[in-house]
Amino acid sequence: MSDCRGQRWSLKDMTALVTGGTKGIGYAVVKELAAFGAIVHTCSRNEAELNQRVQEWKSMGLKVSGSVCDLKVRAQREKLMETVSSLFDGKLNILVNNAGMSIPKEATEFTMEDFSTIMTTNFESAYHLSQLAHPLLKASGNGNIVFISSVAGVIALPMCSIYASSKGAMNELTKNLACEWAKDKIRVNSVAPWIIRTPLVDNLEV
Ligand SMILES: NC(=O)c1ccc[n+]([C@@H]2O[C@H](COP(=O)([O-])OP(=O)(O)OC[C@H]3O[C@@H](n4cnc5c(N)ncnc54)[C@H](OP(=O)(O)O)[C@@H]3O)[C@@H](O)[C@H]2O)c1
Repeated sequence: MSDCRGQRWSLKDMTALVTGGTKGIGYAVVKELAAFGAIVHTCSRNEAELNQRVQEWKSMGLKVSGSVCDLKVRAQREKLMETVSSLFDGKLNILVNNAGMSIPKEATEFTMEDFSTIMTTNFESAYHLSQLAHPLLKASGNGNIVFISSVAGVIALPMCSIYASSKGAMNELTKNLACEWAKDKIRVNSVAPWIIRTPLVDNLEV
């Protein structure tokens, strides 16, 4: 962290949960929050990769821990939030709902399984994690939720009707939670990136 950055901004002692921190955008968000002084917990499904990332961050002097969690599974989301609550003494300042995926197909080709996988990973899990995090965010007295949405949730793009719907729903959820939870001192925002070269994008191009 440069001196200039440290003087202007600090997240010292703030607590954060970033989903899907082992790759791509989530990886960068974990590193950035931790470099500003936050204590960060992240999750992904690949245990070996998660452990490797956590070791890398620790060797950089960053305060990051991780749990294996398949966010598609409700019980695993509950277990993740129990871990976070125990690690951070019941208080969470920042929840970044980042983990997401897509399957490129024409609308006529999608199966019910595709629908369920994309909507559960991208939207249901983010909704449920926000519900689970609400008491922790409120207890912090300074809570923040950031949804990683997409430009695809705002404009029409080819081969991504379910992904686009999941992100459009996320954008609407952002507005609703921002209004409902302002009284609890929880800010809710979404970030909608355009294409960023990550494993997700590389896999879609194959
Ligand atoms: N890259 C872009 O151009 C772009 C543009 C707009 C929006 N976005 C959004 O940005 C977010 C991150 O995208 P990315 O490009 O960084 O993706 P990525 O490189 O594929 O990384 C996704 C991360 O989420 C984890 N993850 C995926 N499914 C999971 C699950 N079911 N349970 C737990 N963890 C899971 C992955 O780990 P495991 O696979 O090991 O579980 C990985 O750590 C997504 O919500 C995506 O929709 C990306």
